[in-house]
Amino acid sequence: QPKQRPSQMEREEFVAAFGGIYEHSPWIAERVWEGEMGAIHDTPGGLAARMAQVFRAASDEERLGVLLAHPDLAGKLAAAKRLTADSTAEQASAGLDSLTDDERAEFDRLNTAYVEKHGFPFIIAVRDHDKPGIMAAMRRRIDNDTATERAEAERQVSRIGALRLQQILGDN
Ligand code: GUN
Repeated sequence: QPKQRPSQMEREEFVAAFGGIYEHSPWIAERVWEGEMGAIHDTPGGLAARMAQVFRAASDEERLGVLLAHPDLAGKLAAAKRLTADSTAEQASAGLDSLTDDERAEFDRLNTAYVEKHGFPFIIAVRDHDKPGIMAAMRRRIDNDTATERAEAERQVSRIGALRLQQILGDN
């Protein structure tokens, strides 16, 4: 938990606290801080809504960049323990850090097929699901058209952000 309420933070503190809410995309926190003129929300829900608004207002290229900043679920970065702390905790919450060899092979196969078809990684708010649910969503979503998946991936990114803010700020 941060020592101060978000609305009391200087720009630097705010970006340090919330720059990682959208994976490797601190510019979202920067735009929230710059746009609010001191009217930053303190509740996780309020802040999540504002960050999602900035994300939706970003250019097509910027939003694609956020999707591309996500590592593959249960992928090589996870195996090499090179994920962000948030991503590590999320993947562990669904048991993606302890897959059998067969499960890992299936994840690799599905990740590769998904990226080849859609051009960005499979993204899902893993804290909303268990391992079988994530696998099922992956199989189902590979078959969607890319415009549908692009919209779904962007919704999931904002859901991941909302859940991360709840973790940081508590459920109030
Ligand atoms: N869903 C939640 N976190 C992540 C992540 O780090 N990568 C992907 N691909 N999906 C996620």
